[in-house]
Amino acid sequence: MPELKTIITADEIQAKVSELAGKIREHYSGRDLLLIGVLKGSIHFLSDLARQLDPTTEIDFVQVSSYGPGNSSSGVVRIKKDLDINIEGRHVLVVEDILDTGLTLTHLRELFATRKPASLQVVTLLQKPTALQHGGRAEYVGFDIPDEFVVGYGLDYAERYRNLPYVAVLRE
Ligand code: PRP
Repeated sequence: MPELKTIITADEIQAKVSELAGKIREHYSGRDLLLIGVLKGSIHFLSDLARQLDPTTEIDFVQVSSYGPGNSSSGVVRIKKDLDINIEGRHVLVVEDILDTGLTLTHLRELFATRKPASLQVVTLLQKPTALQHGGRAEYVGFDIPDEFVVGYGLDYAERYRNLPYVAVLRE
């Protein structure tokens, strides 16, 4: 059986979500915000975060997949599900569960920029050191974590463990 070692508890996550929501409410005060969740990993984070933001906040989703030799670090990103909402002139906040290599975010920033939003920021719950080396950059970061394989709170291993309320390192 794989071993799960909790590195961020459910309480720590919820406290961080509240802290991030406070900063986001302050920044977007008086502006019409559009949240874009990156499927599937962002589901719990987006859900918890959105419920602490202004009730007029809109939500949309995008889904991408990355391919590459070995791991995804030098791969290409393909859109599996595009946005439903036109983001031109909108204040957009992309919601990610994790920046790993940073490839997904770099691609999404480039793609969304071509659609001329009024502003584009990113919030990620987790960030690995590699993401920064590849230019992955988020305006709001929950936790910096070491370069280990983590699951829970949206993050999966072969589609399992997304439903854990905490984040854990998975070891075979
Ligand atoms: C994960 C995660 C991010 C991306 C980050 O998604 O949710 O979107 O990888 O990795 P990167 O920084 O190396 O690009 P994944 O492709 O595993 O899909 P999932 O969210 O559906 O599990």
